[in-house]
Amino acid sequence: MPSSVMPTSRQGDGRPSPAVAVSAVGLRKSYGDKTVLDGIDLRIPAGSVFALLGPNGAGKTTAVKILSTLIAADGGQAQVAGHDLAADPQAVRAAIGVTGQFSAVDGLITGEENMLLMADLHHLSKREGRRVAAELLERFDLAEAAKKPASTYSGGMKRRLDIAMTLVGGPRVIFLDEPTTGLDPRSRHTMWQIIRELVSDGVTVFLTTQYLEEADQLADRIAVLHDGRIAAEGTAGELKRLVPGGHVRLRFCDPAAYRSAARALREATRDDEALALHVPADGTQRELRAILDQLERAGVEADELTVHTPDLDDVFFALTGTDQPKESVR
Ligand SMILES: Nc1ncnc2c1ncn2[C@@H]1O[C@H](COP(=O)(O)OP(=O)(O)O)[C@@H](O)[C@H]1O
Ligand SMILES: [Mg+2]
Repeated sequence: MPSSVMPTSRQGDGRPSPAVAVSAVGLRKSYGDKTVLDGIDLRIPAGSVFALLGPNGAGKTTAVKILSTLIAADGGQAQVAGHDLAADPQAVRAAIGVTGQFSAVDGLITGEENMLLMADLHHLSKREGRRVAAELLERFDLAEAAKKPASTYSGGMKRRLDIAMTLVGGPRVIFLDEPTTGLDPRSRHTMWQIIRELVSDGVTVFLTTQYLEEADQLADRIAVLHDGRIAAEGTAGELKRLVPGGHVRLRFCDPAAYRSAARALREATRDDEALALHVPADGTQRELRAILDQLERAGVEADELTVHTPDLDDVFFALTGTDQPKESVR
């Protein structure tokens, strides 16, 4: 059985570092003369959500397959849940769960039977298997449908069953390859909730997604996969700060107030027609307060204030846009 405590890894100087659930250095993979992964480095703290973000064909599934031991990398090294991928793939497999684009759900049998099959695979006793299956079916709101063939389930129900099946073995690291692709908005939100709950149990989630909003919503850290490399890595906030364009927009009803504000905020861009000022800002509380203080000193009050931060879409296009060399991104 996988230990319930994440092992700590040792740094070069022998000090234990905070538990790392997944670490990879220089992962490479090619198919024929097509390089899919061209040296990927990852370091994912235990108990966090990590999103590998990239469009179709970027190599997300390839990365998941390598890290979950389904295929071998051509080069590089990786540890998952404290075990070396190459040296101890069995131990990696015992510690992880994977749900992919191709679900493990068997449509011909019921949800409950699918769960019991997983329990058998994990060598749980009949009694324990029933207990775990019932508990997970309940948790994922599938108890009512448990006795129906899985082929009758909606897309969202199938995904939930898939995750429930993955959890039977008590994995410490879960790979979710595009967990919400093809789901309707409501099922997508349910899935997001499920993923957040997984993490509150201490599980590490490695998810792939094409959706910037999904990465923004769920992930502690995001890596943008582009041209076989990690083009950028960080929190959603850090990534957003990579691209300029954040500003505060202040709108006034009274032209006199507008003019006073424009005098007070000299760095602002004016929109005389709309009586609006755009002040460059990165969206931090400190900057916002500074702007408000300046307005207050000038004795004016804006009638409308909106903060515009660049979203991940801006970041993504800035990082991957062919018309914009990477060097231009600060
Ligand atoms: N078994 C394979 N043989 C040849 N090419 C493959 C194979 N698997 C994936 N590829 C190619 O590798 C690239 C990345 O695929 P994939 O990892 O599935 O991307 P993603 O999951 O980001 O959509 C694609 O161009 C795909 O066609
Ligand atoms: Mg894929």
